[in-house]
Amino acid sequence: MSDILVAKIGGSTLGAHDTTLADVVALQRRGVRPLIVHGGGPLISDWLKTHGVPTRFERGLRVTDARTLEVVVAVLAGLVNKRLVAALTAAGGRAVGISGADGGLLKARVLDEKLGHVGEVVEVDTRPLLDLLDDGFVPVVAPIAVEWRGEAPVDQLLNINADTAAGAVASALSARWLVFLTDVPGIRGEDGETVANLSPAQAGLLTEAGVIEGGMIPKVEACLQAAASGCRSVIADGRRTGALLEAIEDGTGTVVG
Ligand SMILES: Nc1ncnc2c1ncn2[C@@H]1O[C@H](COP(=O)(O)OP(=O)(O)OP(=O)(O)O)[C@@H](O)[C@H]1O
Ligand SMILES: [Mg+2]
Repeated sequence: MSDILVAKIGGSTLGAHDTTLADVVALQRRGVRPLIVHGGGPLISDWLKTHGVPTRFERGLRVTDARTLEVVVAVLAGLVNKRLVAALTAAGGRAVGISGADGGLLKARVLDEKLGHVGEVVEVDTRPLLDLLDDGFVPVVAPIAVEWRGEAPVDQLLNINADTAAGAVASALSARWLVFLTDVPGIRGEDGETVANLSPAQAGLLTEAGVIEGGMIPKVEACLQAAASGCRSVIADGRRTGALLEAIEDGTGTVVG
């Protein structure tokens, strides 16, 4: 098992006064190799509003037409990514921001024509990430990819759900941990309480019943995918102090798989 930790930081907790980035730096000093995949949901929605572009989600995925894609790329790979690099640097880390379109990191194809330029990851080239990790950097990944049709890349960017990207990256790297830092304590079950451990069967039932919905759906799917390749997958409350450390040490939140 590797010493790699993939931490997905949700747009929902970005900018909250959490300790995630300090935790990342502390873990790196302990010999863990952390990597961040980030979302940017609320900020993207703000910018879309400013530009008069309407927003619509289907099963937790943002329907992405050409104008939406421009804003998604600008905000995700630009503002959000570089702000995280700045914050990690200020916390004492050495971070490099990279998008999935760079270095052939994420190969994707259109997931569903109805969703527009939304990609499904078909392959992860781990080399750019492993090179950065080997050099002691914390890679900060914006979930954007180049579109592939069959065996050929095309001149088109795709919007990838950050949770899906994190799951694909964690699986490809055989990461030891995959932690989703979000704005809830974990996965709420039917009784409204947070579930400590969620099996694949329970996850299926709760999704079918509509208890797991919206933005939680891609997270659970990513957890299940990564858990199948031996990764310990946890959904944790990114607003709490020390959430990342506790998630990997004690499984605080919901452990999925
Ligand atoms: N069963 C459930 N338990 C807990 N939260 C749930 C559940 N079903 C749906 N949710 C929703 O999922 C949300 C978290 O996903 P969301 O996509 O909004 O945030 P994020 O992924 O952290 O941020 P971003 O998408 O901006 O990167 C919660 O705020 C909650 O409203
Ligand atoms: Mg989300």
